Amino acid sequence: MKKIMIVFGTRPEAIKMAPLVNELKSRERMEVVLCVTGQHREMLKQVLKTFKLQPDYNLDIMTNGQDLYDVTTAVMQKIKPVLEKEAPDIVLVHGDTTTTFATALSAYYKGISVGHVEAGLRTYNIYSPYPEEFNRQSVSILAEYNFAPTEWARDNLVREGKDEEKVFVTGNTVIDALSTTVREDYNHELLNWLGQDRLLLITAHRRENLGETMKGMFRAIKRILDEYDDVKAIYPVHMNPIVRNTADEVFGRCESIKLIEPLDIIDFHNFMGRSYLVLTDSGGIQEEAPSLGKPVLVMRDTTERPEGIKAGTLKLVGTNEETIYEQTKMLLDNPSEYGKISKRNNPYGDGKASIRISNILEEVLV
Ligand code: UD1
Ligand code: UDP
Repeated sequence: MKKIMIVFGTRPEAIKMAPLVNELKSRERMEVVLCVTGQHREMLKQVLKTFKLQPDYNLDIMTNGQDLYDVTTAVMQKIKPVLEKEAPDIVLVHGDTTTTFATALSAYYKGISVGHVEAGLRTYNIYSPYPEEFNRQSVSILAEYNFAPTEWARDNLVREGKDEEKVFVTGNTVIDALSTTVREDYNHELLNWLGQDRLLLITAHRRENLGETMKGMFRAIKRILDEYDDVKAIYPVHMNPIVRNTADEVFGRCESIKLIEPLDIIDFHNFMGRSYLVLTDSGGIQEEAPSLGKPVLVMRDTTERPEGIKAGTLKLVGTNEETIYEQTKMLLDNPSEYGKISKRNNPYGDGKASIRISNILEEVLV
């Protein structure tokens, strides 16, 4: 029996690790310990409930308006006794959050092997996204086993000198979750409000965009909503109070947009399925939208997901107000341009990543 400790703390990590937790729990030779850091509180609980996951530990570290020092030090202090008590054979972390970095470092300090899920994504600019690019690069130094979602991610790791024998291309577990959530007969009261109008689905939260940059992104969308009678927007606002204030300030009196609480993943995926266009600075949404054939305007200067750009469903538009406005207008006005990027294509996997990762772990943890 091998003991695997899985650690995550934010909404996207939970969404992407939930299928793996459930798959590993179904394996007889594995004992799974689930530890959540609680870097997110409500947004994490929402996912745990949907996937019916019961953590063995919740470090409950979130504070309102936490900064990077708060998260890093709280995770390290609180996870240390858990690592000592459980002494797992391996700790699995996901992606690039500060929970991921602080957990990997803590496991390393205790001499515990680290497995990194969604390894090898890169922009090679440690300020964009900030601090995620630093987080994932440093976890790659520490991780023994690397589960890369694509060949491109694998190549990055091998080029950086990781042991080829321990880098595996598995697909992205986010597609595992997506395969169970989108439904033909889905309905929601907000979709009645939308009627036959075209839906812009919006999310934004990146630290490097907080403040004036985010205000400009929102102003671009507001100008579109003011100009088009047949376009409406739904924006499940991230719980970060800085994001909320900016959203209220720019969209406060606009009737064509609904500012709502974060959606349950099932609702979010189905809203995405119903949308005309997604405007976001999110990472995970860039992987989900191509599967649903939904165009995404990525409001960032860099992306670590070039496969979606190559596949044609993502367009990197930057954070400048004028460019976001122009590019959105172009996709609303020009059916042939829209047709070119609303293609169903799935460079991120076939929905079986969790099975592959579990098989590999059974093999290597002998
Ligand atoms: C974090 C990750 C980011 C990831 C994002 C996913 C870091 C540094 N950032 O950014 O990589 O893309 O999660 O959403 O790891 N809040 C709540 N309730 C919640 C969640 C957040 O109130 O359930 C508020 C709190 O005031 C909190 C703030 O949002 O202090 C910011 O949360 P934090 O996890 O620090 O940053 P995110 O922008 O969410
Ligand atoms: N998501 C959700 N509800 C929402 C908005 C997003 O469940 O209201 C999901 C989305 O489908 C994706 C993930 O959250 O799987 C993305 O999380 P986020 O944008 O917070 O983080 P990132 O991917 O940028 O790290």
